[in-house]
Amino acid sequence: MKKLFLLGLALSTLLLCNCAGSGEKCQGNCKCQNGENCQCSQQCNNGENQVVKAIMERRSIRKYLDKPVEHEKLAQIVKCGINAPSGMNKQPWEIRVVESQELINQVNEVYKKANPDILEKDPSFKNMFRNAPNLICVAGEQNSGLDLGLLGENMMLAAQSLGLGTCCLGGPVHFLTNTEEARFFIEKLGFSEGYSLMYILAVGYPDESPDAKPRDEGKVKFIQ
Ligand SMILES: Cc1cc2nc3c(=O)[nH]c(=O)nc-3n(C[C@H](O)[C@H](O)[C@H](O)COP(=O)(O)O)c2cc1C
Repeated sequence: MKKLFLLGLALSTLLLCNCAGSGEKCQGNCKCQNGENCQCSQQCNNGENQVVKAIMERRSIRKYLDKPVEHEKLAQIVKCGINAPSGMNKQPWEIRVVESQELINQVNEVYKKANPDILEKDPSFKNMFRNAPNLICVAGEQNSGLDLGLLGENMMLAAQSLGLGTCCLGGPVHFLTNTEEARFFIEKLGFSEGYSLMYILAVGYPDESPDAKPRDEGKVKFIQ
């Protein structure tokens, strides 16, 4: 009985102390799972589930502050990504994190040439990656869509929990793979033979907080 109680206590401490929060100091006995100094949000202490919170608050962000994301945060996001499950643990992905503003600018020039009226159409246009300062480019082997999706959502939720915004982008992949002048970008990413670029995550500090788009709960049925 005592053992059960202690196990329960330990589990509830872990649940309450999901520390990817808002930067506030931890209170009481709240400790990060890895023992580091906590940056728990207030909710850490009132029991709100931080994973649910991140899921429900994540939105696709298409306006970003002019501020690159710190390397350590990008590394943490990717680490969370590759801890996603994959069929038979094949991990059929390759990931390239673009921190080079020069590379983004170079390929963006190609995009602007191909779309000369882009600024008229979209006055807030900064770059073809929904204006994000950093990119996480994901390539996969054939038929790896499910695994790649799980990888991506892990990364988007990790980013959300770190106060960052993301947008999963398929549109630019189409442009990059079908435009001769943009080939240098994919070549620079240097994916292995057999891997194709599948999506790009735009990542940055959000400069908007859009409302959730409606979800169709009618698609869910509980069979009891
Ligand atoms: C596979 C995939 C491709 C997407 N491609 C684009 C894109 O090219 N451009 C864009 O602005 N948003 C893109 N999105 C974002 C979706 O439009 C967005 O997730 C959807 O409207 C739901 O909104 P939410 O993410 O804010 O909940 C993509 C999302 C996914 C999952």
